[in-house]
Amino acid sequence: MNIANVQGKGVLVVGGSRGIGRAIAERFAELGAEVGLTARDASRASEVASSVAETHGQPVSGYALDVTDRDQIREVVQGFEPGSGVPDVLIYNAGISPVYASAEKVDEGDWDAIIATNLTGAFLAAQTFARRLIPENKPGSIVFIGSINSVVGDPRLVAYTASKAGLAGMAKTMALDWARHGIRVNTIAPGYVTTDLTSGLQQNEGLRRSITDRTPLNRMAKPAEIADLVVFLASDSSSFITGAVYPVDGGWTTG
Ligand SMILES: NC(=O)c1ccc[n+]([C@@H]2O[C@H](COP(=O)([O-])OP(=O)(O)OC[C@H]3O[C@@H](n4cnc5c(N)ncnc54)[C@H](OP(=O)(O)O)[C@@H]3O)[C@@H](O)[C@H]2O)c1
Repeated sequence: MNIANVQGKGVLVVGGSRGIGRAIAERFAELGAEVGLTARDASRASEVASSVAETHGQPVSGYALDVTDRDQIREVVQGFEPGSGVPDVLIYNAGISPVYASAEKVDEGDWDAIIATNLTGAFLAAQTFARRLIPENKPGSIVFIGSINSVVGDPRLVAYTASKAGLAGMAKTMALDWARHGIRVNTIAPGYVTTDLTSGLQQNEGLRRSITDRTPLNRMAKPAEIADLVVFLASDSSSFITGAVYPVDGGWTTG
């Protein structure tokens, strides 16, 4: 068997419309998985799904989903029906980081929005996914896209850090709760990646330099550089790995 074989697996990527999530959806489709992906805007979801399907010759379905709407999360995770009936893999990638301010200045509304999108949405998606698999005795894999802030703090990112460290902690407990059901739960902790989320700092020469200088590999990552580890953790090649947190950060958290 090829390493990291995901051919025929049903994979739902929550937040698969652009950036890291889109790169993940593309990689799974390229490797023969049956992908479902979400975007907040319905036409964007079907447009991206059609484009990924056409590029890779695989069935891809698009779903409209705002993860701050709890009922909608349950409906979409419940509704994703790959050919095999029950999905094999859930990737929770949706995330925001709209505030860059010292903790004493952070507004409660911003705190709530970040926790709702980055953490509560992940809890509800993973819980709904597990509730589908457990009665069917079906094994599965959940991968959360965390951040270096799942592992270390950074100034002026208090809510984002709380959400991403929370994600890694939640994954460990889910890994323990669901190990007996064959559902593995892992977190990937990317460093700085060139996406819309970081467009502000990419355009600010001083900020960008401070990030690359602090990264041992001396650059930011491309979205595709996150995707292969996601595929590995989704596949049976990682069958003895659960509850782990993997930095993909050019060495950021080693120093
Ligand atoms: N870029 C980095 O440097 C970096 C580093 C570490 C971790 N990460 C994490 O990686 C993940 C992806 O980030 P990215 O850099 O690819 O960001 P991005 O390009 O801004 O994409 C964000 C994704 O999250 C989705 N999303 C945001 N709010 C949502 C909501 N309320 N409901 C549903 N979906 C929502 C977006 O969907 P729409 O298209 O519908 O808006 C989009 O698919 C995030 O969790 C982020 O925290 C990023």
